[in-house]
Amino acid sequence: MTNRRDVLKYLGLTALSVSALNASAANTEVEPILNSEDPLFWDSVRNQFMLSKDKVFFNCGTVGVMPKVVFEKLCDHSRYLATHVADWEYKDDNKEQFISGYNNLLPIRTKVAKLLNCEVAEIAMTDNVTNGMSYIANGITLQPGDEILTTDQEHGGGQSSWKVKEKRFGAVFKTVAIGKPITSSAEVLDIIVKAFTPKTKVLMLSHMISGSGAILPVKEICAEAKRRGIFTVLDGAQTIGHIKIDLKDIDCDAYVGCFHKWVGAPTGTGFMFVKAMHMKDLWTTVASYRWDDHADEGFRFTQRGTGNFAILLALEVALDFHFQLGPDNVYARIKFLGERLRNGLRQNKKVKLFSPKEEAMCAGISLYNIDGLTGAQLQDAYWNKAKMRPRSQGDIFGVRHSTHIFNSTQEIDRALKIVEELS
Ligand SMILES: Cc1ncc(COP(=O)(O)O)c(C=O)c1O
Repeated sequence: MTNRRDVLKYLGLTALSVSALNASAANTEVEPILNSEDPLFWDSVRNQFMLSKDKVFFNCGTVGVMPKVVFEKLCDHSRYLATHVADWEYKDDNKEQFISGYNNLLPIRTKVAKLLNCEVAEIAMTDNVTNGMSYIANGITLQPGDEILTTDQEHGGGQSSWKVKEKRFGAVFKTVAIGKPITSSAEVLDIIVKAFTPKTKVLMLSHMISGSGAILPVKEICAEAKRRGIFTVLDGAQTIGHIKIDLKDIDCDAYVGCFHKWVGAPTGTGFMFVKAMHMKDLWTTVASYRWDDHADEGFRFTQRGTGNFAILLALEVALDFHFQLGPDNVYARIKFLGERLRNGLRQNKKVKLFSPKEEAMCAGISLYNIDGLTGAQLQDAYWNKAKMRPRSQGDIFGVRHSTHIFNSTQEIDRALKIVEELS
């Protein structure tokens, strides 16, 4: 539970930031309403990051940045393990925090379930999106000829395990082109629904397309799939800690994601959600003692052999940090900065924007290029002029530019100035 004083105290902002907080949130146990445009408040948030101040990071789409408290937890616990591993009594795997992989990680899974609005037993911890998706593709049974449908814009870590399914078991992997830029959510829905056939058994797609930041209308798509008895699995690599996720509302069958991009957790932290009614039938890929123990389905998949507890405890701190600010506030700030960038880019005739035309389908990721430049040239120009780091997306699509809570309006405006200079 969060109240206004908690946020300020946690972030060490007591004197600075009162103006950023809506007075109605005072002394209540509700998520505080922060002003997504208040420079004083967000400067204070920026100070919670160690990120070097002479450089500007615009690439959370690849990997995020740990707040200081997260990094400190990672170091402190690693130091504790190196110093005090002899304290380990081997009495209760679920209480002792020396190695992960045998512990049910209930406190962390509970926070993840709260973030996503689902049941704890439906959450298993994974290292990343790629292995979460692999557990699902590998764990469900398909017959030769069964079709797996996806889009033409999926990441290798999301789609490749389904290609294995095709090669190994004779399932058919099909992609459908959804456009870049995407025109509208109605059009994507229409394209995907028209691509369903009576043989479609699985629909796998990104909730947010990695290459363009397009937020797909997954609730509507999943409802259409459900009507046809199609198993739906969403790739949430880009959504967790970025846009708000409500799995009960989306009503997909499975969802995988990671915390090392937008939540600011250490690398190697992810999860897999599978609806309880399906999780009980999912074969495990990585098997240990619990492989066939259905008392806690999420634990069955979480028990994956020796792993690093420090990154999980640091993940817990990152989730606490995220909850303290409030997922809605984090989204609002990310979106505010992303929209400021896109609005500026739209004014420039030499810029081609590949993010969706419908602004409601965009948040913190923008994809664009300047006439006559490659992505690598644009990326290098940003670095050489201002030590700014968006990420090249190849010759045609230019750069993918991610905005997060540690970025500022000045950084966005400076980036727009550079685009103007180059165009
Ligand atoms: C949409 C999407 N899926 C999957 C992945 C792979 O994620 P991970 O490296 O966590 O396995 C990424 C990484 O950028 C991604 O953007």
